[in-house]
Amino acid sequence: MRYLKFVSEFIKNPKQVGAVAESSGFLARKMAGQIGGAVNVVEFGPGTGAVTREILRKLPVNGTLTCLEINPKFCEDLQKIDDHRLKVVNDDVRNYSRHIENYDCVLSSLPLAIFEKAQRDKIIAISGRSKKFVQFQYTPFLKPKLKKYFDDVEIKFVPLNLPPAFVYVSENPRSKTGSSTARVRKNKRSFAVKAAIQFAMFAANFWTSILK
Ligand SMILES: C[S@@+](CC[C@H](N)C(=O)[O-])C[C@H]1O[C@@H](n2cnc3c(N)ncnc32)[C@H](O)[C@@H]1O
Repeated sequence: MRYLKFVSEFIKNPKQVGAVAESSGFLARKMAGQIGGAVNVVEFGPGTGAVTREILRKLPVNGTLTCLEINPKFCEDLQKIDDHRLKVVNDDVRNYSRHIENYDCVLSSLPLAIFEKAQRDKIIAISGRSKKFVQFQYTPFLKPKLKKYFDDVEIKFVPLNLPPAFVYVSENPRSKTGSSTARVRKNKRSFAVKAAIQFAMFAANFWTSILK
């Protein structure tokens, strides 16, 4: 049934749906497996909910999952998932950029490769404000665009999907905080070195003035 709905929605609007069939269990699990310890998660383009169901399996009981889906027919199906942690929003991702940084993780199945450039760039810019962004694509060419926003971009290949897919896991890890900590440490170290030099010069002057 879900398969038929997916195909019929694809026929009506191929550029928006972007795939003839929903993601395989392998791909859905690979996507959902990236949430780690995330509590508040957003999903872009859940469709018939293949990835959504896997995210809900991984999410803690006190977690929340907000799904942003542009297609009202898919939203009707998603509303049937009986889970208090799930909130389905029938809207375009581009209208929902405000609080992205408040979520722990964003998972996206949007068909970015077939979107127009302006649309793709806007969605990547919105996603670039998230702490962790997980996106699947059927092409391996998205990395340079993601690198503009994220320090770490890892690509995982999932062959058991039709067609085989690439999962991009992008993060600005705690290392950002880590690197600022490192910077603070370095500054402290250079202050200590300067103080030691000053002290040595003072001691040298003191002894030369005594010995004169
Ligand atoms: C390739 S399908 C993925 C469906 C599902 N997540 C899966 O993996 O089987 C892409 C989904 O993104 C939705 N979509 C496309 N553009 C969107 C937008 N601007 N905002 C929200 N959803 C969008 C489509 O309606 C479709 O459900």
